[in-house]
Amino acid sequence: MRIVLGTVLAALSLFASIVSSQKLPLVVSTWGNADFQAAGQRAFDYIQKYPKNRVAALVEGLSECESRQCDTTVGYGGSPDESGETTLDALVLDGPGQKMGAVGDLRKIKDAARVAWAVMNYTKHSFLAGDQATKFALQMGFQESSLITNVSTTMHTEWLNNNCQPNFWRNVAPNPLKTCGPYKPNQNAAKFSLNSKEPLNAFSQVSHDTIGMVVIDTNGDVAAGTSTNGARNKIPGRIGDSPIPGAGAYCDNAIGGAAATGDGDIMMRFLPSFLAVEKMRSGTTPRKAAEIAILRMKAVYPEYFGAVIAANKLGEHGAACNGMATFSYVVGDGNAEKVQVYTVKCF
Ligand SMILES: *[C@@H]1O[C@H](CO)[C@@H](O)[C@H](O)[C@H]1NC(C)=O
Ligand SMILES: *[C@@H]1O[C@H](CO)[C@@H](O)[C@H](O)[C@H]1NC(C)=O
Repeated sequence: MRIVLGTVLAALSLFASIVSSQKLPLVVSTWGNADFQAAGQRAFDYIQKYPKNRVAALVEGLSECESRQCDTTVGYGGSPDESGETTLDALVLDGPGQKMGAVGDLRKIKDAARVAWAVMNYTKHSFLAGDQATKFALQMGFQESSLITNVSTTMHTEWLNNNCQPNFWRNVAPNPLKTCGPYKPNQNAAKFSLNSKEPLNAFSQVSHDTIGMVVIDTNGDVAAGTSTNGARNKIPGRIGDSPIPGAGAYCDNAIGGAAATGDGDIMMRFLPSFLAVEKMRSGTTPRKAAEIAILRMKAVYPEYFGAVIAANKLGEHGAACNGMATFSYVVGDGNAEKVQVYTVKCF
């Protein structure tokens, strides 16, 4: 009996390694339009050329989106905050050794993903934020430049001309639904309950498309990360889910990786990427794991906007989404030279 079982297990693991040798290396990344495809392709080309450099491939992919200003929601020149400045969040995770580097509210440096990588490489910290992250980047040899462009200036001017609508304030005076700040706390407005019945944030596909990516190399080692310029008209200082490990992205070298995109102010409260990886650990398929993570958030915020992608070490992948009709993501695997776009129906 034992011998038979052993033979079956050996056959299964042989089968698994045949499957994985066909599907690895694997790149899975959020959103399917042209610039996001190019970012996925960049990472996929890189990991095919340098099969063990999964973190470099990840950062190449994220950086491609930053320099293309994917949907003006990644990189410089998009999503101006209330003061008109663009600030960046990025995360880089490496499975072996559970390594991490992240930046939040990064100012005046275009290369957010590379600065996150520098935090991993050159410090014992995991996460730097704000102007001090800029100082760190300058020491590490990055170039300072304005992240404001004509496009982001126009976005900001239109917002000012529209009485600063939409914005992210509540329970303040003057009425934030009608008037620009500065604001003060308004206890009388606190009849606004702090629950999901409240008007949802001004998020949509237009205002928030993070690139989140999982890269698995031919050894089955996993890296994951994100890059974004956050939410349009955000309150200065706001950091979203993207650079938060377990929220914007997560990986576990024994299991696989996941990444999230959408209304980060909501999503970070649930650690959806961590949850998806944990579900895969207990044997759930990536698709089902992503669905469970999405449903966990939908139970509290039925209308929220977001998506989760997940991939395991066998090279299987999947996604789930809420608050839009469909969600597309990009996959590069051993079956083709070009990345392909997969589309899932949302809940
Ligand atoms: C991090 O270190 C690797 C070598 O391990 C190097 O190739 C890469 O360029 C470094 N990244 C940064 C941002 O300096
Ligand atoms: C941006 O605006 C400036 C000043 O209004 C103008 O000179 C410049 O040509 C514009 N650049 C682009 C790329 O439109």
